Amino acid sequence: MENLNAMKADVLEYAPRLGEEVMRVANVTRGFDKGQGELLVLDGVNLSLREGEIVGLLGRSGSGKSTLLRIIAGLIEPTSGEVAYMGKPLKGPAEGVSMVFQTFALFPWLTVLQNVEAGLEALGVGARARRERALAAIDLIGLDGFENAYPRELSGGMRQRVGFARALVVDPTLLLMDEPFSALDVLTAETLRTDLLDLWTQGRMPIKSVLIVTHNIEEAVFMCDRILVLSSNPGRVIAEIRVPFKHPRNRLDPAFRKLVDDIYAKMTARQTDEKTKKGLELHSWLPHVSTNLMAGLLEMLTAAPYNGRADMPEIARSLHLEIDDLFPIAEVLQHLDFADVREGDVFLTPAGRAFADLGTQERKALFAKHLLRQVPLAARIKEVLDERRGHRAPRVRFEQELEDFVTDDAAQEALDAVIDWGRYAEIFSYNDKTEVFSLADVEA
Ligand SMILES: Nc1ncnc2c1ncn2[C@@H]1O[C@H](COP(=O)(O)OP(=O)(O)O)[C@@H](O)[C@H]1O
Ligand SMILES: [Mg+2]
Repeated sequence: MENLNAMKADVLEYAPRLGEEVMRVANVTRGFDKGQGELLVLDGVNLSLREGEIVGLLGRSGSGKSTLLRIIAGLIEPTSGEVAYMGKPLKGPAEGVSMVFQTFALFPWLTVLQNVEAGLEALGVGARARRERALAAIDLIGLDGFENAYPRELSGGMRQRVGFARALVVDPTLLLMDEPFSALDVLTAETLRTDLLDLWTQGRMPIKSVLIVTHNIEEAVFMCDRILVLSSNPGRVIAEIRVPFKHPRNRLDPAFRKLVDDIYAKMTARQTDEKTKKGLELHSWLPHVSTNLMAGLLEMLTAAPYNGRADMPEIARSLHLEIDDLFPIAEVLQHLDFADVREGDVFLTPAGRAFADLGTQERKALFAKHLLRQVPLAARIKEVLDERRGHRAPRVRFEQELEDFVTDDAAQEALDAVIDWGRYAEIFSYNDKTEVFSLADVEA
């Protein structure tokens, strides 16, 4: 917090003028039934959206962002807690709440105009008013001249504009967006972001409030007045950050960069806490990161200009990685005791430095040592293979053991990761066809 306060002094103080409360989420919890028990996805989430603000919901993949957005849209119900829209309890999809998705399912046999009109037809708007409003939305979002084009004739960016037009044509009070720019190329995404912000700041949309879900820290700082950071497993709001910059914002501004840095620190600090608190267990979530990526990052960090320590936002920028790409690599290196992550910086451990300097066979041996010591699932597989006659065991044997604790998806990902790492380390082999682990090839 001190950082933020210090920063306010040297930028133009900016805060949107806030009106009434549009949406309130109070103590919302949501789980999904998974046979063996419930997977808790959202835990005690509180948030309030006021008239006049763009709020960002920032979190890693799987942290429950889409689930929370679907609850706010009235598409699914929370397991417990309350959601109120314009002061009244939300019961099902509300009129005045529109959603934009990552990619839009446009009707391929309808033109742009007909696609945009389709949303109004459901609301029972008459033909003439439909046409008028659809044309206005098309004009607003920069699709002028494409009214009679079919979706297949449009680029990804233009198709996403149709998605926006479809959301805007109903004159929503609240606009919800679920990673609306993440499927677009960098330039197209930036153009669309800027166009949308222009419409917002010029007051050309009747929308009172915008909630945007993203896993991109820069995007959140670029667009939002306030950012809520969601943790993973379960999703909780772990930080709330006000962005005190006027639009248009400059990504290269030192104050902008500093805020991006602070958010990285917050997101990685949390990750480190949880690790030290819990340690790795047999059924810990393991992101499937290739040994090539790990080796690449270790080599890069060892060399100049980093010399063993680097700022995560800087690595992300220089490698064009988003947090969903970079965090898992850093996390796995941390699990394996090749690196440490603190306050948004990655530090190499002595073993991490040693790895980068070794030849291929010695690297494998060092990796094997760390894998067996640090990752209980790898040690477990090795132990079972050592004990069994024939030194073989089917994958399903470990799936069953894991699935008592984690979702099927998490179990599969952990196994795929350990198979990849175990093969590299030459601890065991695995036959993809028969799905059987074995020591045979390794010993041969
Ligand atoms: N309908 C569902 N049934 C079971 N699990 C679900 C369902 N929807 C989401 N989940 C689980 O909830 C977690 C969060 O998912 P999601 O909200 O999509 O996260 P995010 O949008 O942040 O990537 C994931 O582990 C996902 O597998
Ligand atoms: Mg999502």
